[in-house]
Amino acid sequence: MSVWKVSGGKKLYGDLRIQGSKNAVLPIMAAAIVTGCETELINCPRLSDVEAAMSILRHLGCKAEREGDTVNIDSRGMNRTDIPHDLMREMRSSVIFLGAILARAHEAKLSYPGGCELGPRPIDLHLEALRSLGAEISEQGGSLYCRDNGLKGSRINLSFPSVGATENAMLAACGAKGETVITNAAKEPEIVDLQEFLRKLGVSVSGAGTSTITICGFVPQKRVGHRIMTDRIASATALCCAASAGGSITLKSVAPSDFETVTSALESMGCEVERKASSVKISVSRPLRAPRPIVTRPYPGFPTDAQPLLMAACLRAEGTTVFTENIFENRYRHAVELCRLGADISVVGRVAVVTGVNELIGAPVSATDLRGGAALVAAALGANGDTTIYDAGHIARGYEEFDKMLMSLGADVSYESEQHLATVV
Ligand code: EPZ
Repeated sequence: MSVWKVSGGKKLYGDLRIQGSKNAVLPIMAAAIVTGCETELINCPRLSDVEAAMSILRHLGCKAEREGDTVNIDSRGMNRTDIPHDLMREMRSSVIFLGAILARAHEAKLSYPGGCELGPRPIDLHLEALRSLGAEISEQGGSLYCRDNGLKGSRINLSFPSVGATENAMLAACGAKGETVITNAAKEPEIVDLQEFLRKLGVSVSGAGTSTITICGFVPQKRVGHRIMTDRIASATALCCAASAGGSITLKSVAPSDFETVTSALESMGCEVERKASSVKISVSRPLRAPRPIVTRPYPGFPTDAQPLLMAACLRAEGTTVFTENIFENRYRHAVELCRLGADISVVGRVAVVTGVNELIGAPVSATDLRGGAALVAAALGANGDTTIYDAGHIARGYEEFDKMLMSLGADVSYESEQHLATVV
């Protein structure tokens, strides 16, 4: 079991570079199989989810190799259309490969992606979108069997602006004859990054970042290079760590508007914020005050992924913060663990009420999911004494060298991966 150790009470100071975006790179790695071509993805974060996506690509017959911050994919040799259970289970968002495999090969077999720590993760909107394009999909024995006799452009209206369903619809539409219009599409910045990549592939696509995306046909390109956008949730995480620990840090080479909802919430709490074109500086020198109620919504609303992180930053703020989690059913599992550090949080359904306390005390806690685990790190940085975070493998799914980043800012943290502990024991 991977373990994080945090010795709290040290303020954070310094500049940091933020990793490439997990939630942008995963659909783009799937998009790399839409046409048989060579792809060079720059600024690819070193994450277990990216490793899992590379394993899927290799299983499908593609080449996928990392060279430093770059992942090179050659999908010309793709010779399979199935993703087995073990690979599907490694990364819940593997379903994003479905649309791309259909666009390329017009058949696909995937083990049904299960739920995860955040609750059931249905894919009905994904399947509805693919069926609109002419896919025949049946579910049997825990697997999805998909095929089509030629995808045809269609109008797809999503009943909810699902990020994954929008991405799957975009990728399948690349293989459809004629124009596809996706309405009520998700508007997240990661969708815009996917559009930029598809355009480099030769796809005619527009509208990403708005609720209507249009895609028609493409002229396959032989070789494509793309730089992955910066991770806006990792940026928000770093700001919340500083708000919890105190000090002053500057995020370099970021897109401030991508995480402005989080930045402005921290500013309303009394953090001093300095925004420039591609950097954000946060300074925390006095007790913080509770922000206005936080309600998670699809982009451009407050991001659900940052809810646990802002909660960690609010634990010692004067006053009461009310969180409403509208996106996932079970996204307060970190609250119980935060209370083990002395936090005062009460959860009723989709609402969590955080009452600020004067002090947090280090204690043994367990990470429950990716962002919940990062929230425990953020809270532990502001606690007195030592915190041990068990099941810390969740954190490695989405944060590249998170421990080294915090250590470079003066935090007293250490991370022992499962492999290391196995050799030590
Ligand atoms: C993406 O997940 C992100 N993951 C999530 O980040 C993020 O929290 C989420 O979007 C919302 O922004 C990746 O991009 C890999 P959704 P996704 O489809 O696509 C319901 C992280 O921590 N829904 O927008 O799965 C669903 O149950 C992860 O980095 C259906 O009902 O999110 C949920 O309540 C966590 N039917 C809501 O929509 C469907 O077919 C949002 O899901 C699909 C979704």
